[in-house]
Amino acid sequence: MKNRPIGVFDSGLGGLTTVREIRRIMPGEDIIYFGDTGRVPYGSRSRETIIRYTKDDIDFLLKYDIKLIIAACGTASSVALPHLKDKYSVNIMGVLESAARKAVEVTKNGRIGVIGTSGTIKSGKYAEIINQLSPEMQVFSNACPMFVPLVENGYSESTAAQLIAKDYLTPLKNENVDTLILGCTHYPLLEKVISGIMGDEVTLLSPGALAAADARDYLMRENLLSARTDGGKSEFFVSDSVESFTALGGTFLGSPIESTVHLAEVFE
Ligand code: DGL
Repeated sequence: MKNRPIGVFDSGLGGLTTVREIRRIMPGEDIIYFGDTGRVPYGSRSRETIIRYTKDDIDFLLKYDIKLIIAACGTASSVALPHLKDKYSVNIMGVLESAARKAVEVTKNGRIGVIGTSGTIKSGKYAEIINQLSPEMQVFSNACPMFVPLVENGYSESTAAQLIAKDYLTPLKNENVDTLILGCTHYPLLEKVISGIMGDEVTLLSPGALAAADARDYLMRENLLSARTDGGKSEFFVSDSVESFTALGGTFLGSPIESTVHLAEVFE
């Protein structure tokens, strides 16, 4: 029971930033990762489509006797999980709550910025959760639809990324936010560029990594932490090119992908 894997999914590569943190803080855990690379991006799609894709991702992972699922995707977490979570008996954690809690904890001036995909920002979920936790917080958000294609194509530190980031982030900088939630799991790859524009005094929060810590707390509470303390294995599945996932994935994971990446059956 305890040694069953943790399932993690994202529309593509971004969720690997969560896998990286799980492996760092829970090295004994087995992980099954699914990246829906054949249908990325999710963030610009309709609510109905995001819900349908997210359901497919969850159903795919459930074939592997999973003990916990982490939706390591800001878009799926904000748009789809509120509709799907209660339909499953396995716990499905999103990435919003951990980051919202942390933002309320670390902000000094009560001005919190949120960036994410169009779907995430349109959902208004971050502001909703933050204001439930602390109604006096002011939340300023901006959708950054060009960020995911830049990251997925390896352009994270390019001049193009800098120019586009300046455009997206200047309105938030002008609002004097002191904390910025990188509300899409792809964005930690742009951290250098984002921090260069926002300045060192602005705290950047990565929901995917923060969710890994919450996942550990949950597994501990439920007595579901793996009996092993080391040697956990990760298995990766994608719905499109195995080659490009293998080539780019290491940047997200912080080390090369060490195991074979599998092509998942195409969803009908
Ligand atoms: N990593 C997803 C998120 O956190 C990605 C975005 C997308 O597919 O548009 O929102």
